[in-house]
Amino acid sequence: MFPNRQQIVDYYRKVLETNDRQLICCNPFFPVEDVPIDIAYHSLSTLQPLLKYPVKSGDCILDIGCGAGADCFLAAYRGDPQTKIYGIDIVEELISRANELKAKYEMENIEFLNSVIPPIPFESDHFDLVMMNYSFHLFEDKAKLLGEIFRVLHKGGKAIIADSFTPKEFRDSNEIENWLMSAGGAIGVDSFKRLASSVQTIAIEFIREELPHIPEGETIGYMICEKIE
Ligand SMILES: C[S@@+](CC[C@H](N)C(=O)[O-])C[C@H]1O[C@@H](n2cnc3c(N)ncnc32)[C@H](O)[C@@H]1O
Repeated sequence: MFPNRQQIVDYYRKVLETNDRQLICCNPFFPVEDVPIDIAYHSLSTLQPLLKYPVKSGDCILDIGCGAGADCFLAAYRGDPQTKIYGIDIVEELISRANELKAKYEMENIEFLNSVIPPIPFESDHFDLVMMNYSFHLFEDKAKLLGEIFRVLHKGGKAIIADSFTPKEFRDSNEIENWLMSAGGAIGVDSFKRLASSVQTIAIEFIREELPHIPEGETIGYMICEKIE
């Protein structure tokens, strides 16, 4: 059974409090040289969608499940003032933190929204890139989410979904740590490709990432989808 919305919110509130106590970056692979360290230490994933996408001037980018915005800031630092970035998260405290960092570093071209996805609160054909960094597995209705992602992408735009693609569900949703620490709700590479292709005409490629701490049998990486129609 999937964790409910309140369980997800409570869990990530706790993660933020823990990070604040420890003041450490929980992602050893985040490119700390590219953004101020107090932004980098909020990254909650070991993957990095922007490794697979060169940010360009004028790009319009959306990060779904952005947390405190580490990847949004990375996109802003790699782009220029014409690059426009939106980050959305369900947890109010994470969005408040992202807004504090935005004010501190005067990043006027990022907007953070506290909202529950889906729906995606933007008009159709709007974005060059929609990225998700370790949040896709948390969505129960993946077809609906993908429908929304492809709706807001313009033709030629890309969705980059960095996550576990090892199918997993834990029987007991009370074991929230299992769900959230181990990417419960993830679906396999082939299932993802079938599902996404049934929702939209796309070109799709999976790039597997090998990292030393990833358990044997776990497939993680980048699902890269280009909207071609
Ligand atoms: C593993 S964290 C990753 C955060 C961020 N992408 C990063 O790499 O630091 C997953 C995030 O997805 C958010 N999330 C989960 N379900 C959501 C939903 N339905 N709508 C918006 N955000 C959601 C959570 O609040 C959490 O911040």
